[in-house]
This record gives sequence, structure tokens and C-alpha cells, in this order.
Amino acid sequence: MAGWLDRRSTPLLLGLAAGLFAVAAGLLAGADAAGRAGLAARWTARAGLPLFLVAFLASTLVRRWPGPATRALLRRRRQWGLGFALAHTIHLVALGINVTVFAPGRSWQSLLGGGLAYVLIYLMALTSTDRWQRRLGRWWGRLHRFGIHYIWFIFTASYAGRALGADPGKRATGLILGSIMIAALALRLWPRRRMVQ
Ligand code: HEM
Repeated sequence: MAGWLDRRSTPLLLGLAAGLFAVAAGLLAGADAAGRAGLAARWTARAGLPLFLVAFLASTLVRRWPGPATRALLRRRRQWGLGFALAHTIHLVALGINVTVFAPGRSWQSLLGGGLAYVLIYLMALTSTDRWQRRLGRWWGRLHRFGIHYIWFIFTASYAGRALGADPGKRATGLILGSIMIAALALRLWPRRRMVQ
């Protein structure tokens, strides 16, 4: 298991497979063209979430549960981030079709908030090499720390909106996945506080 997790290609293949599977499931499940595009957009966002959580929690998992599998996740954290960027690129294509063809008129706040997340996702992906880490110095850590927390915020805000929104069909998803996001942040912050004491 740890050997498979330690392969550089594993996160990228999982990101690609999850994104494509989500598109295929959306196309099969939707009742009409608009429904298919909506489901593809929704499910491609969901497909990227586990990969994001691995990158977000890799160092926390090693601190709390050190072992071969968690160390392999940490060693490949950059690849998990790239796998997430790949899955979310598929979300970008699906939502592009959704927003321009079937459901135009999204608020400028959501376009700005989601758009900035994409800028950060691609900046982080482009600078995810040792060379860029050396070139950017302290700014590398600042960019990646801010970026990962901002992406966390967009996921959490999207699910909180669904949990509290008017559509009862989306409430359970919002509640479950929103709670998972909040638990992930708590897990990430908690050991650090304990280590400071
Ligand atoms: C300008 C950029 C973006 C636009 C226009 C956009 C648009 C969309 C659309 C049309 C849906 C489907 C809505 C539905 O049927 O309920 C969706 C779902 C979603 N998007 Fe995006 N999105 C953007 C960026 C992002 C980013 C960067 C993230 C995460 C970091 C994200 C997270 C989500 C989540 C969590 C869902 C709900 C998935 C679920 O139901 O499980 N989106 N988005």
C-alpha cells in the first residue's frame, strides 16, 4: 500500500480518473443537456475534494499517526496538490460549459471568489518545484500557505451555502461535506497548538 502511495504518478492518475469519472457519471445521470452539465460541474468539484484533503492534511497525518503510509503521503504532497489541480481543471471545463451555455448570470462575487481560487491553484501548481521554492524563498511558503487555506475556504463556503440554502436536495451534501471541511481544519490546527504549549 505504502509503495503504491509513494509513486509519483498515483495522485495524478487518481485526479484524472476521479475528474473523468465525475463527468461520465454526470452525463449518464442528467435528464437533459442542462441537467447533465449541472451534474458534471457539481460532481467534478466533489471529485477533487479527497485529493485536496490529502494535500491539506499530509503533514498533520504524519504528526498524529506516523507510519509508512502517512510518510508516503507527505513525501508526495506536491503530487497530491497537482492531482487536485488536474481534477479541478476538469471542474473548470465543466463549469465553463455550465455557466456560459446553460446557467448564465452567476453573481460577480462567486465568479471573483472562485476565479481567485483558480489563480492560486495554478500559481501553486506552477511553483511546485524545488527550483521555484529556492527562487521565491520565504514568499513560496506564504503563497502556498495562503493558497491552501483560501481553497479550503472556497470549498467550505460552497458547502455552507448549500447546507443553509433554500434547496433541500443539496442540504445533506452541504452539511456532511461542510462538516468534513471544518473537521479537517480543526485536525490541522489542533496538534500545532498542543506543540506550542
Ligand atoms: C469562477 C469559478 C467557479 C465557478 C463559476 C463555479 C461554478 C460551479 C457550478 C456551476 C457548480 C454546480 C452547481 C450545482 O449544480 O449545485 C459548482 C459546484 C461546486 N463548486 Fe465550483 N465553480 C468555480 C470554482 C470553484 C472552486 C475554485 C472550488 C473549490 C475550491 C469550487 C467548489 C465547488 C463545490 C464544492 C461545488 C459543489 C459540489 C457538490 O455539490 O459536491 N468551485 N461550481
